[in-house]
Amino acid sequence: MIYPIVKYGDPVLEKPAAPVEVFDDELRKLLEDMFESMYAAHGVGLAAPQIGISKRIAVIDVTFKEDPSAKLVLVNPQIILTEGKQKGSEGCLSIPDFREPVTRPQRVTVRAQDGTGKWFEKTGEDMLARAFMHETDHLNGRLYIHHISALKRDLMKRKIRKLVKAGEWGD
Ligand code: NI
Repeated sequence: MIYPIVKYGDPVLEKPAAPVEVFDDELRKLLEDMFESMYAAHGVGLAAPQIGISKRIAVIDVTFKEDPSAKLVLVNPQIILTEGKQKGSEGCLSIPDFREPVTRPQRVTVRAQDGTGKWFEKTGEDMLARAFMHETDHLNGRLYIHHISALKRDLMKRKIRKLVKAGEWGD
């Protein structure tokens, strides 16, 4: 099932998501649906709040279907180590058609559970490190626009308000 993506302005995007405690078939179905929804929206990462589900779940595929082994499920993820810095352009499916440069760590280690509840650790660099930070932020109610200057953020918000008025934002 493909879920519509929740757009910026919906409060679900700015509140901390609840931990997952039950690892059942329902969760695994949700994970499948999240990958399907992410690919349909042409994204490389998707957090559950972006489909209106306030739970600590994210899916990532920085290769966008190129490498099936790159598909990553993060349930209850925690960032346990960050190193270095990278500056690069970042976007978000919930803030379509906008991109801004965001500084992130170059190398990030995440600790998370998979769809069965098993804990694992994974270290990523470059785009994967960025995705770990971006998606974990989502689960804490934070968006990449919280990492840009207040001036740029206000300008973006103003543009979005215009889009909302024009009926060109949201579903
Ligand atoms: Ni995002």
